[in-house]
Amino acid sequence: MVVYDFSGQTLVVTGGASGIGAGICRAFADAGGTAICLDVNGQMAEQLEDSYTGRGVLRSHVLDVRDSQQVRSVFQRLLTEYGHIDGLVSSAAIQPRLDIEDMSDDAWHGVIDTNLSGVFYCARAVIPHMKSRRNGSIITFSSGLALQGWASTSAYAATKAALIGFTKSLAREMAPYRVRANVIHPGITDSPLFTGTKTPEELNHFRKSVGAVGTVADVVQMLLFFLSDASSSLSGLYINRDLILPD
Ligand SMILES: NC(=O)c1ccc[n+]([C@@H]2O[C@H](COP(=O)([O-])OP(=O)(O)OC[C@H]3O[C@@H](n4cnc5c(N)ncnc54)[C@H](O)[C@@H]3O)[C@@H](O)[C@H]2O)c1
Repeated sequence: MVVYDFSGQTLVVTGGASGIGAGICRAFADAGGTAICLDVNGQMAEQLEDSYTGRGVLRSHVLDVRDSQQVRSVFQRLLTEYGHIDGLVSSAAIQPRLDIEDMSDDAWHGVIDTNLSGVFYCARAVIPHMKSRRNGSIITFSSGLALQGWASTSAYAATKAALIGFTKSLAREMAPYRVRANVIHPGITDSPLFTGTKTPEELNHFRKSVGAVGTVADVVQMLLFFLSDASSSLSGLYINRDLILPD
């Protein structure tokens, strides 16, 4: 069994109150680190912090990643409070189901602002710090829908495709400073984003097409690896966890 030790390290997770984000917050803290959950849903973020009883530290703050100024000031505050940020997991995303002809400008921009601009704002806020320390791991999320598309998820699919190009470019910009960036397609994962946005027929289709639905714990194992020194020479990768092996 692989055991990670993140003692003395700080991880920031956007969308950290639910699903994969909450899973990595808990696991990083359990491995001795300080995990900071940032989420627009303050109530859920607070619940995560209050219910955490593990070995490390898990804190939460309200953040709407769509708000560029708020992102700047929250990251500034975190740097002042914790002194350093070693990892950033940009998990915050939404997936409203809307056909293109029915999508308002606001609905379109809401998805772009959350899933794409939010990732850019957070990366921009943390990279000067990571560059100066010549250390840092940034993880973003793509999706199978980025390359295959899916009816009524065009905005989501577009952002998830864009994040591949964004993250690979980020990795190249940061390579001289030994700051890493990798984009992960976690595969279908049993979280509110998956179960809450699909029809029963779609749930059935996805379950059949991948053979199994992954768990948050499976994805978290991969994230721990990309946050740790074990992956210190890996950057600019697109990891596609599309085929999920059943138990
Ligand atoms: N679950 C899957 O099957 C799956 C598949 C492919 C990719 N992904 C990606 O993995 C990542 C995590 O997904 P998940 O399944 O854990 O989702 P989730 O819905 O469980 O969690 C997303 C979190 O983002 C937060 N959030 C939404 N808008 C926000 C905003 N403006 N500011 C801050 N926080 C905001 C939500 O409150 C929620 O806590 C996402 O980027 C998603 O696109 C998930």
